[in-house]
Amino acid sequence: MTERPADPPLLVWKDQFATGMPGVDHEHRQLIELINSLYSKIGARCSGDLTREFLGEIYARISAHFALEEKVMREARYDEYAAHKADHEALLDRLRDIMDEAAEDESYCCCEDLGADLEQWFSIHFRTHDPRLHARLGDH
Ligand SMILES: [Fe+2]
Ligand SMILES: [Fe+2]
Repeated sequence: MTERPADPPLLVWKDQFATGMPGVDHEHRQLIELINSLYSKIGARCSGDLTREFLGEIYARISAHFALEEKVMREARYDEYAAHKADHEALLDRLRDIMDEAAEDESYCCCEDLGADLEQWFSIHFRTHDPRLHARLGDH
């Protein structure tokens, strides 16, 4: 199986993703790089199965990132924990919906809307919830 370079990548880092905190931005950049590298393996062979495999891997990585933030918030009894966690859940729900659609349709291809959805979610979450959290609780 040949791997095709991510061309174009699913996500491109944008200034509006930046929280201004180097450690946090580094972690978010790594998340985007991982998503692009998994996406590049799909290449032109998009299918329901490949979509589910791809989404399953990014779901695991994204939920691990969220779990870490949520642990920090719980330990600090962070005042906006519920709203922040709800925004995390909204993205995970969206990813699960896509996996469900892919399970029902072998010709399903995830990626047309997924890039736009992720970009929109990152643009808002990385500019609102995450900077507030890390400004209060530090650069985790
Ligand atoms: Fe977050
Ligand atoms: Fe984050």
